[in-house]
Amino acid sequence: MGCLLLGAALLTGAAVRANDSEQVRLGGMLYKEHCAKCHGENGKSGPGYPHPMWGDGAQIRKFKHAQGLIEYNRLLMPFDNPGILTDEQILAVTAFVLANHGTLAQGQNLDAGNAAKVMIER
Ligand code: HEC
Repeated sequence: MGCLLLGAALLTGAAVRANDSEQVRLGGMLYKEHCAKCHGENGKSGPGYPHPMWGDGAQIRKFKHAQGLIEYNRLLMPFDNPGILTDEQILAVTAFVLANHGTLAQGQNLDAGNAAKVMIER
């Protein structure tokens, strides 16, 4: 069963992994609702932004750490309606992006206390 789930996650590219945190699960739902139409369900590219947002080729390293990415998302995303998400929702959707990028370990959460220490290293 574990292998099946992992296989499905690899096929779609976008992953809410079996033991991801509640925060990452919530972020996955928010991503689907507010981000996927431009960035693609799998984060590889979409009609509104034809570049990968996480994984190989993603540019999010330029934000240096989770805090930088949170601030960017809070100010600018969703691009067509920035400000629509609460701070808690921005944390969750950023956690989802970073979990898919491999920056957040399984079960790890983002919060105001650790965000500046979670480095985006690739
Ligand atoms: C209406 C389309 C649209 C929606 C919806 C949208 N984005 Fe974006 N996003 C863009 C565009 C366009 C850019 C590039 C902006 C620029 O270069 O100034 C971008 C850039 C980004 C980047 C920077 C990526 C990089 O490689 O530099 C991140 C991170 C991001 N978006 C996250 C999100 C998240 C999270 C959501 C949902 C909460 C979201 N976006 C919703 C259009 C969208």
